[in-house]
Parts: sequence; structure tokens; C-alpha cells
Amino acid sequence: MVGAKAARRPRKVVSPGFDRFLRPVHRWVWADAHRRASKLLRFAVTEAESGRDMTRAAECTKDPVLRRIYLKHAMDEQKHANLFTGRGRAILAALPPGQAGGSFQANWFSPGERGLDELKVDEETDGSLLAFLHLSEMAGAKRFVVYMDVLGVDPQTRDVFSIVLPDEAFHMSYSLTQLKRVSPESYRRRLVWARLGIIWKAYLRFAAGMANLFGGILLTVQYFLVLPLFALLAKRSAKKDLSGWSESRSGAKASLRSQY
Ligand SMILES: [Fe+2]
Ligand SMILES: [Fe+2]
Repeated sequence: MVGAKAARRPRKVVSPGFDRFLRPVHRWVWADAHRRASKLLRFAVTEAESGRDMTRAAECTKDPVLRRIYLKHAMDEQKHANLFTGRGRAILAALPPGQAGGSFQANWFSPGERGLDELKVDEETDGSLLAFLHLSEMAGAKRFVVYMDVLGVDPQTRDVFSIVLPDEAFHMSYSLTQLKRVSPESYRRRLVWARLGIIWKAYLRFAAGMANLFGGILLTVQYFLVLPLFALLAKRSAKKDLSGWSESRSGAKASLRSQY
């Protein structure tokens, strides 16, 4: 379907140096066919959610130019969802029967487009939404450049990214152009606030991940160190118990509230 298209990338989208440095790890993440399919299907869900959010944004805005462009954006995201779903399913269908992939998805390391990241479209102004969109689309586009670079193992999936990437570059650039139009005085400030919001959400995700990790470690330590101690104590006290029937204590008053 897309194999004939060469893997191209818009010139203005450059992968960040950090990700270029980690290219071997990205290559390893994408090398496993099962993991590749799972990631694409997961990306498809986010793209479809973004499409729905952009449709809502088109409903909410009072600016006719933005309404038209948001609808185009929504259709692009739905197209991406369909492309990722199609490719993910094709990879799964081509896998030998019974081949199970690793459960490790490395989603924190190689996420897809972040979408609106729990942003409530109804509560945003045109300016704040455009600032967030610009940063989010830019991050997504840069990630997709890295994925294209490491997908030599699967040219068809790379071609899917080469179709998606120009759209993401367009989302990245129109959001900045429109932000400058609707907030000519304050667009830099809006970008700073949007960036701070993204950093804060990233911190919350990181903190939740760390809490999850340490919670798991703590429970494992409890299971292997504390629980055996109690089991040992229970075993010791069980030895002191007499087996079988035993006489009641001599002279003890019969009571209906006591066992003996
Ligand atoms: Fe997209
Ligand atoms: Fe996008």
C-alpha cells in the first residue's frame, strides 16, 4: 500500500540529540515484531483520541479559521489511527502462529503522539490550546523521525511513519502560526506556560511510575523477608500446642462464654 513511497521527512523536523544518542535502544525496541505491532495499535488509540479532541475543539472555538483547520487536524489524526491500526494488524497477522511477544513495551521510552494529554478542550482558550498543540505536535513529530530512522528492519512500517510525519509537521507549524495570529502580544508567554504544564504532567507521570516501582519493591521485600519470619513464629508456637483432645483445666468453672 505504502511501500512505493520513499521514507521522507519534512526538513524542519529534526530528532532531538538525546534521542539520536539513544538510537540503538530505539532500534532494539522496534526490532521485535510483536512489540512493534502492539506499539502501533497503542499509537492508533492515541491518534483516534486526538481526532475526537480536535473535533471537540472545532465545536468549541468561535474562530471560523480555527474551526476549519481543527476539522482538518481531526481528519488527519483519524487517518493516522487507521494507518497504525492497519499496519499493526498486518504485522500480527504475519507472525507465525503461537508466537508470543515480550510483555515489555517500553512505552515510557518510545511513546507515540501524546495527543492532548488529558487537556480539557472545553476549558481552554484558543491561545492556550494552540500553544499546547504546537509543543505536543512538535514532540510527536520529532519522535516519529527517530522511529523512521530505526525501522530499516520493517520498511512498510517506516513508510507508514513517512506518511504520518508531514501531517504532524503541518500540525506543528499551523498551531504556531495561528497562535501568533490570535495572541500576537502574548504568544511567547503562552508557550512558556504550556511548556511548564507539560513538564508538570511529565513529573506526575514519573512520580506515579516511581511510586509504583517502589511499592512493588516494598511488597516483594515484605513477601520474602517479613512473611517467612511470621511463618517461622507460627510454626514454633504450633509445636507447643497439644495434639488431639486434652482435658480441661482442673477446677476451672464451667462457663458458657469460654471454650474450656
Ligand atoms: Fe497524528
Ligand atoms: Fe498530530
